[in-house]
Amino acid sequence: MADGAFDLQRAAREDAYSRPLSSIDVADPERFRTDTFWPYFERLRNEAPIHWVETEADYGNYWSVTRYADIMAIDTNHQVFSSDAHLGGITVGDFDEDFVMPMFIAMDPPKHDIQRKTVSPIVSPHNLAQMEPIIRERVGGILDGLPIGEEFDWVDKVSVELTTQMLATLFDFPWEDRRKLTRWSDITTTIPGVGGLVETEDERRAELMECLAYFTNLWNERVNSEPKGDLISMLAHGEATRNMEPMEYLGNVILLIVGGNDTTRNSITGGLLALNQNPAEYAKLKADHGLITSMVPEIIRWQTPLAHMRRTAVADYEIGGQTIRKGDKVVMWYVSGNRDERAIDNPNAFIIDRERPRQHLSFGFGIHRCVGNRLAELQLKIVWEEALKRFPDIQVVGEPRRVYSSFVKGYETLPVVIPARY
Ligand code: HEM
Repeated sequence: MADGAFDLQRAAREDAYSRPLSSIDVADPERFRTDTFWPYFERLRNEAPIHWVETEADYGNYWSVTRYADIMAIDTNHQVFSSDAHLGGITVGDFDEDFVMPMFIAMDPPKHDIQRKTVSPIVSPHNLAQMEPIIRERVGGILDGLPIGEEFDWVDKVSVELTTQMLATLFDFPWEDRRKLTRWSDITTTIPGVGGLVETEDERRAELMECLAYFTNLWNERVNSEPKGDLISMLAHGEATRNMEPMEYLGNVILLIVGGNDTTRNSITGGLLALNQNPAEYAKLKADHGLITSMVPEIIRWQTPLAHMRRTAVADYEIGGQTIRKGDKVVMWYVSGNRDERAIDNPNAFIIDRERPRQHLSFGFGIHRCVGNRLAELQLKIVWEEALKRFPDIQVVGEPRRVYSSFVKGYETLPVVIPARY
């Protein structure tokens, strides 16, 4: 770690333990950009695991839930903890009342269950087995095109390219336009601001409407042909989805784009970073490629690509000596639960041969548990199998630039070099 980064971490630790508990607001995106949120979560887990936060920030007051077991209790209780967009949705910031894009991740049963069932066949074991050779070929193509002996950005050239190609495959999306998918994913999760990906909310909405227009053309094409195995055809022909309003179609398309994109992308980057920060683990992996199987879920735990999910209480609920009131916003911090030593041994260490690597919260639990979890694992497995075949080493040569968000926990850039063999 560079000296400056070390000072920043030390200052954060001092601040986390010296300020009044009541003033700790872990949702501040700046702490995620600077990777300084860890000690605040540590203190909350130990001293205030169910913590009421009063804040001036745009997202407003909320409960912070930071221990593994409490997060499980809330995530699996959809009767009390709603995901409904009209109550605020699934992130600490409320959904926009005047630009609602209904999507099944932000719905409760029964509608949630019916829509989820329509798209889940895309990631059935049978479909995944069919996809495996395609993914392998595409990963190989991307890795074979990487520069050797010179610095490049791993995020752009590998993580983004690969997940974008994957999405284009799932949607059967025009290949040459596939980076549009990346753009729509990025603008959905970014916070608008000067110098940002979009500067204003209006700009974001205008681009999302372009996304809707593009996908409407694809829908019209698919609805008039035989049902096929791609996601748009499934939505256009699915009984539960074929009569969706345009904004609901947009919402579900965006859900699948963001779901399948940012998360896997940041796991591909996070894995490389973790291996470089833990050279003994990298050495173990190089000596035994069979460890990829347990390393993949460990990467997903260690990275926790979605730092939180939010719910809204629809009834009063007692937990950890606190009363959550009907109407309160509740934020489950997966990123903290995944570092809870009450549930996971030595949780801050990255250990590629853990005994129970799948014991983590990164995919959530309960009725909204990630639809694409096996697909994500498959992609990561193939990336590492193919990378290890080709490159004896991939070296991180600088600090990553991290995303300014307390929802998507990820990287904008990661400079790397693949040394030439000689
Ligand atoms: C839901 C994480 C990859 C599609 C979720 C949830 C999380 C998550 C935390 C919400 C769980 C909850 O509320 O309990 C991740 C991570 C991934 C990943 C960490 C990669 C490492 C994918 C992929 C796809 C996908 C590749 C697309 C094929 C979805 C969908 C939902 C979802 C559609 C909504 C499920 C529902 O509401 O029933 N994901 N995801 N995800 N994910 Fe993923």
